[in-house]
Amino acid sequence: MALILGVETSCDETAAAVVRDGRRVLSNIVLSQDVHRVYGGVVPELASREHIRTIVPILRRALAEAKVEPRDLDAVAVTVGPGLIGALVVGLSVARALAWALRVPLLPVHHLEAHLFGLRLGFPDEAFRFVALIVSGGHTELIHVRSEGDYALLGRTRDDAAGEAFDKVAKMASLPYPGGPVIDRLAARGNPARHAFPRARLEPETLDFSFSGVKTAIRYALRDDPSLAGEEKLPDLLASFQEAVVEPLVENAKRALERTGETRLAVCGGVAANSRLRAAFEKMARETGAALFLAPIEFCTDNAAMVASAGEEAFRRGITAPPDQSAGADLPLPFKD
Ligand code: KG4
Ligand code: ZN
Repeated sequence: MALILGVETSCDETAAAVVRDGRRVLSNIVLSQDVHRVYGGVVPELASREHIRTIVPILRRALAEAKVEPRDLDAVAVTVGPGLIGALVVGLSVARALAWALRVPLLPVHHLEAHLFGLRLGFPDEAFRFVALIVSGGHTELIHVRSEGDYALLGRTRDDAAGEAFDKVAKMASLPYPGGPVIDRLAARGNPARHAFPRARLEPETLDFSFSGVKTAIRYALRDDPSLAGEEKLPDLLASFQEAVVEPLVENAKRALERTGETRLAVCGGVAANSRLRAAFEKMARETGAALFLAPIEFCTDNAAMVASAGEEAFRRGITAPPDQSAGADLPLPFKD
């Protein structure tokens, strides 16, 4: 019955959560930093400063909401990468100090693996085996998850991450950061067939993605006809863009199921909160008979409950951080063949 505190500061969310047994969320506090809004994107130095300012109150609140005293904790889990290095270091320093003071293990967590464990929070009794699509602001990866810690890479983006494309297109249309939720909302009343934006043409056998083409197409469309960003036409533009992102995600996931022979498909990461994406995956699952696991919305975007859940797996395996544990901006997820 491990009681674990999770800490997440890899980008612009300051988050702490208390999770029992890697499955039962007792508290899940997420503060999305507001300071970046006026810049239309995350400013790393500002992110670090905001984490420093808010991490301790957020930790206190996570413990208070969970009705847990620090001494009740069995371990502290923290994201050690990938992410913004200055931001990661804040969470790591605080988590390490707390673990040391409490004399409990510090559990190092990879941010992508944490996104996968967001699925465990939504589906606590399901086997950890599926083709998983992680779609976030920094990543777009198709992974064959064979069990906890046993991952094979099937495909990834060759340029922009899907969420990055949402954020950049939002910026082009003078919409606030982060772009995903705003585009989701505006696109809902647009016609996705209004514009035929290009889908990347990659080699037929690959499960990789490319989203820079559609982003550039939007840039030119807006340059040639600025009225497309007007109130009347914008929903069509955004719905057509969204379709050009969602379609290859669904298509490659379907091919990944065929290639691996799996019948279980999971989708997680910030962009998995997208309503059109969720509907498109549900349709594909109905058509193919695949069992679909969509991460619950609250565990799609960055949060610390998923970090605590991933940490619990490390805890059970006895994987703990050495005293000189460092953070890695580009920390790779160890893939097997
Ligand atoms: O997982 P996440 O919180 O952070 C990373 O690890 O990157 O993902 C953030 C990304 C942002 O690009 C944001 O625009 C996107 O997820 N996002 C969405 C939606 N909600 C968040 N994209 C499309 N539709 C949404 N509803
Ligand atoms: Zn993330």
